[in-house]
Amino acid sequence: MSRKVAFITGITGQDGSYLAEFLLSKDYEVHGLIRRSSTFNTSRIDHIYQDPHTENPRLFLHFGDLIDGVGLTTLIRELQPTEVYNLAAQSHVQVSFSMPQYTGQVDGVGVVGILEAIRSAEVNTRFYQASTSELFGSTPPPQNEESSFRPRSPYAAAKLMAYWATVNYREAYGLHASNGILFNHESPRRGETFVTRKISRAVAAIAKGSKEKLFLGNLESVRDWGYAKEYVESMWLMLQQDSPSDYVVATGVGASVRDFAKAAFSHADLDWEEHLEIDKKYLRPTEVDSLIGDPSKAKKLLRWEAKTKWQELAKLMVDSDLQSKN
Ligand code: NAP
Ligand code: GDD
Repeated sequence: MSRKVAFITGITGQDGSYLAEFLLSKDYEVHGLIRRSSTFNTSRIDHIYQDPHTENPRLFLHFGDLIDGVGLTTLIRELQPTEVYNLAAQSHVQVSFSMPQYTGQVDGVGVVGILEAIRSAEVNTRFYQASTSELFGSTPPPQNEESSFRPRSPYAAAKLMAYWATVNYREAYGLHASNGILFNHESPRRGETFVTRKISRAVAAIAKGSKEKLFLGNLESVRDWGYAKEYVESMWLMLQQDSPSDYVVATGVGASVRDFAKAAFSHADLDWEEHLEIDKKYLRPTEVDSLIGDPSKAKKLLRWEAKTKWQELAKLMVDSDLQSKN
């Protein structure tokens, strides 16, 4: 059997944790990049962690950072991965307005660093870049692989650099490098400051009587929300194709932030209007009004299709937070 060794940056994040589970279930040896932190930052992968001293461990963690290109080169040379999934990023759009230069360094220049690490280490690997529907910005929906990129944030501008760097390494050096242009995907593991999780946590806290109000910013923006656990399979599928390419991954259905909040409150038998208030501090200097993907290419070539739609997602996230003790 041929070697199956995956290297995942961002393994401690929402997607990284689901992808690691998925690849372990497919008998991969999985290596993940983690950041040194003064507190533990591995809560999403603790359940799959294996002590390296146990017999036949298949999950290994390595310290590093996307802006440390030298460390990445050494690691990639050592590991000789057959697949690299670059999921690491400063992934919060609003935060990118406060930290534009840092976001550019990690999400843009950092990706060139990992591509150079692969090239200079001369490893025979396939590369996945976590690109995003944020690239489309102000281009009206539905958005597909041919739609124009019109980024509206420092985050999206940095991801645009990474997108084109990935295409360039494919064209210039023949690297099997693909961009997954993923639309918003959520889960009970979603970071607590993204809007869906902020809503599901607040609904659960209000239902339990430990909180009164939820403060949000723009309720009008429309997003195409899918289930992260399903989306990681599309990443893997892209790297199993004979030729690299770029794919939109989405449900094809849009809903507003208000719609999502209403569904979440109603699932817990709560009146959303009684508990939801606007706080202008959550408004962004520039907003992306509407993202609704056309996933026809992924359906046709990858035979991948989203199963869970946003209404069901809202329910499963609220249920999970209702069950949680935190
Ligand atoms: P996430 O939960 O915020 O996870 C981000 C991961 O990146 C974490 O493991 C984080 O480590 C790591 N990281 C951050 N800065 C780093 C650095 N300088 N060096 C090394 N690692 C670093 O994000 P996600 O939702 O799983 O998204 C995964 C990727 O897909 C991101 O690139 C995101 O931009 C992109 N994306 C996400 C969506 C979505 O809807 N979720 C849609 C399209 C694209 P810590 O745990 O130490 O913070
Ligand atoms: N976070 C947040 N907090 N967003 C809010 C709030 C709030 O209190 N109130 C309203 N929103 C609106 C935002 O203005 C935005 O229009 C929408 O809710 C979604 O915001 P986020 O959940 O922060 O996600 P995002 O769409 O900006 O970015 C996510 O999806 C991208 C793919 O389209 C992130 O996961 C990015 O990393 C990803 O690339």
